[in-house]
Amino acid sequence: MQKKLIAFEGVEGSGKSELVARLTAWLKNCGHNVLNTREPGGSVLAERLRQVILDDAMHGLDPLAEAFMYAAARRQHVVETIQPALANGFWVLVDRYIDSSLVYQGMVRGAGLETVEAINRLAVGDLWPGTTILLDLAPELALSRLKALPERVKNRFDREAFHFHEQIRAAYRTLALSEPKRFVIVDASLSPDALFALVRDRLLARYPELA
Ligand code: TYD
Repeated sequence: MQKKLIAFEGVEGSGKSELVARLTAWLKNCGHNVLNTREPGGSVLAERLRQVILDDAMHGLDPLAEAFMYAAARRQHVVETIQPALANGFWVLVDRYIDSSLVYQGMVRGAGLETVEAINRLAVGDLWPGTTILLDLAPELALSRLKALPERVKNRFDREAFHFHEQIRAAYRTLALSEPKRFVIVDASLSPDALFALVRDRLLARYPELA
């Protein structure tokens, strides 16, 4: 477990990237070294893998194969980007990480939670997040927010059955409740300002040294 590695999770449209950008700016302003990164991607090679994994032609990929691909991209991301940043004392904020694989591939697509966890243990070793912030949001709200987003994201969301997104939300909640020490669940239906203030305060409570 890495205390300074903080992951952000939630359904598409839950506002992860905007929140991470705001938290990064706040932490930098407080004088901390901070890396804002994301998955799939986060390194030159892992971004190439992202293009393959998220390619429409990959629709129908076997869930276990998919879990290996995400884990391969994650391994590269860890080795090239996350590990060196942590070694240099940086706080690392990552927009999606291991919990995305546990939920999407392990719990919902059917590769199995324990199997996907084992693959990821191999991929990242002890670079498990110290904190995972779960942006909990009803899929109806996520969908209405996505109307304002680029076509690419909208298309992917629309193509999946609505039920799939309900399953993802439920799986995130189940996972979070099973690990209450690591997870912080926040209500992502709040305004961006209120969400930022809430998460900032939750982080300050967990890490007093951030003040
Ligand atoms: P992205 O465009 O980054 O979505 P978002 O803006 O919601 O973060 O696409 C990431 C997609 O990949 C998203 O549908 C979740 C999925 N995913 C997995 O299924 N497993 C994983 O391990 C990761 C990192 C992402």
